[in-house]
Amino acid sequence: MTARIWNFSAGPAVLPVEVLTEAREALLSLGETGIGIMEHSHRGKAFLKVYNEAEALVRSVGNVPDNYKVLFLQGGASLQFSMIPMNFLSSGKTADYDITGSWSEKAIKAAEPCGGVHKASSSKDRNYCYIPKTRKASESPVYSHFTSNNTIFGTQWKAEPDVPAGVPLICDASSDIFSRPIDVSKYGLIYAGAQKNLGPSGVTLVIIRDDLVEAGCKDLPVMLQYRTYAENESMYNTPPTFGIYVMGLVLNWIQTNGGLTAMAERNERKAGKLYAYLESSKLFKPTADADSRSLMNVTFVTGNEELDAQFCSAATKAGFDGLKGHRSVGGMRASIYNAFPEAGVDALIEFCKNFESQHG
Ligand SMILES: Cc1ncc(COP(=O)(O)O)c(C=O)c1O
Repeated sequence: MTARIWNFSAGPAVLPVEVLTEAREALLSLGETGIGIMEHSHRGKAFLKVYNEAEALVRSVGNVPDNYKVLFLQGGASLQFSMIPMNFLSSGKTADYDITGSWSEKAIKAAEPCGGVHKASSSKDRNYCYIPKTRKASESPVYSHFTSNNTIFGTQWKAEPDVPAGVPLICDASSDIFSRPIDVSKYGLIYAGAQKNLGPSGVTLVIIRDDLVEAGCKDLPVMLQYRTYAENESMYNTPPTFGIYVMGLVLNWIQTNGGLTAMAERNERKAGKLYAYLESSKLFKPTADADSRSLMNVTFVTGNEELDAQFCSAATKAGFDGLKGHRSVGGMRASIYNAFPEAGVDALIEFCKNFESQHG
């Protein structure tokens, strides 16, 4: 088999080798069934077991209270940008958004056709290189939405934004879900496309409080109402069975590796040493403000676009893939989600040091 290389892709992203190895076996036969995981009916006993295990693991890993539903949807985080305002916002009402990058921009844009939107905070003035320290809520928002980790700009909220009491807090956690402990009870709804920290693309995890399922607009196509999924265990139509299966394996991997506390420790260690090197470097520098830096996506530049390009191409040749930064930031981005091995971060730091000694 071709050797695996260091994959710093922002998503779809690296998955634990143990998970891939188990999934490889299950492609031909799920357990002793003689039928591959992708070939099982979603109504059959074997898949229902997979489904129930995945749901139970979301609940135990995330410590999800009983008054929340765990749903497995399709359409990516991007469909949630629209489903949320369609369900909870209407004309004459306002929803608050904290704007900390391209994904929050897309989220607020999708809400505009549904009702009033208010920017509670924004870090656009400095190309989203920080998390705002102050925010101003609107009079009585129907919900308040934020993006916990800004995949493109390499920033991350260290704690939830302070929203007025009683206002449902909604979070796009696509790029840092289950990378650290989370108090679900602070949220009305949390959503995340799976393809960074949870599994393959094609399945979106939604954790939603029961009262919001109830409150959702009833005048929508059934497939756009949360209650449709909540009332049918996400099986009103055929769910993304393979994605749910892999998500279960990833959650099991998280649990057997110490759960969210251990994930957070490892993520802090990995990002910590990379930022420490970048801080000490005379060639590279991180793009995000120190107090806002993401533990998932580490963005950095040399300050010289040609040198950045040279670095990325040398890195690719040396077996480090996916380091080119997003065009809106430039430079480099190392995405080091839960499953990214610490040894890969060490190898990257060594590679950067060598590059620096040749080009510094
Ligand atoms: C924070 C965040 N939100 C939303 C999205 C969009 O996700 P999807 O492609 O699943 O719609 C992404 C994708 O990278 C993301 O990083």
